[in-house]
Amino acid sequence: MALGEPSANLPNELLENLKNKILKEKFSYTESLGISSLRKKICDHYKLNYKINISIENVAVTAGASAGIFMSLLCSFDKGNSIAISRPGYPAYKNIVKALDMKVYYIDTSKEDNFQLTVDLVKSLPANINGLIVSSPSNPCGTIINNHDMKEIIEVCKSKKIKVISDEIYHKVEYQKEKLTTAFKIDNEVLVINSFSKYFLMTGYRLGWILGDKDFIDKIRNIAMNFYLSPSSISQYVAEHVFNYYDYFDNVVLSYLDNRNYLINGLKKLGLTDFVIPKGAFYLYVDISKLKKNSYYLCKKMVQDIGVTLAPGIDFDNNNGKNYVRLSYACHKKEIADSINLIKEWI
Ligand SMILES: Cc1ncc(COP(=O)(O)O)c(C=O)c1O
Repeated sequence: MALGEPSANLPNELLENLKNKILKEKFSYTESLGISSLRKKICDHYKLNYKINISIENVAVTAGASAGIFMSLLCSFDKGNSIAISRPGYPAYKNIVKALDMKVYYIDTSKEDNFQLTVDLVKSLPANINGLIVSSPSNPCGTIINNHDMKEIIEVCKSKKIKVISDEIYHKVEYQKEKLTTAFKIDNEVLVINSFSKYFLMTGYRLGWILGDKDFIDKIRNIAMNFYLSPSSISQYVAEHVFNYYDYFDNVVLSYLDNRNYLINGLKKLGLTDFVIPKGAFYLYVDISKLKKNSYYLCKKMVQDIGVTLAPGIDFDNNNGKNYVRLSYACHKKEIADSINLIKEWI
């Protein structure tokens, strides 16, 4: 339960088509920004799911969201710039910011604000901040910024001349009635990062996308061409087909919701009740300080003793993370049941 990786595979029919295609065709390099027909399908995805018209000139297909985050930071900011990220948060943000010789500014969030950015936290950012990465639903907490607050956050950033990067990789892995809108619909100067890894279950295919204005996407073309030439062509072939299977993926999301509720009940039985109920993604960020003072050692001992793997909070928060663990429930329900039983005996 440590990895942020769905257990479910792509629909069988799609895999059969892929098998036949592999036997018949050679997969070559593609355009650096990705095959036009796939970029068009991504535009259609936005039309259908967010009621927004996007041109393919606004879309770059990337080698996962990971390359998208890296290239977006590289193209948008200069060495020495300050980039604000919330803590706890996805560890690669701070690592990439540091690797690019930029400065990390942590915005500490707490249980009281659902471990998410609030409009007030963004209003109180110091004047020297150049960029802000927002992530909703978030990793490691699965909490969200509702559409109203997202709009305000973007407006506040605009007035403070802060460039916003919105990581929407967990979009559509959502458990509430109000569907999250894309930040690109609120303001097309925002950069959006997304991926085929989570909702579309394609982690190993290493494919994502960026939305941005045409000039920015042109810069991405130049970087991508030198960085990895083109996104994987075989993965792009598969990605073109996933948009035919929304029902399949929505059912997988329903199974996560079931897993989430099951896990919450199981943790309650273990006396672990200190967490915010996630409204998206597939993680639960749990305070375990009453079991052990340092969750890193708890996770290490747990994997050694009973083979259950959880992610220590220190990965996501180098300040308070030692009190927390992240549990992923994108696995099979039986694995959650078995893990809870093992942990119960172990405690
Ligand atoms: C918030 C967030 N952004 C980006 C990524 C990177 O995803 P990928 O490179 O697989 O598209 C992850 C992976 O777990 C993530 O949790």
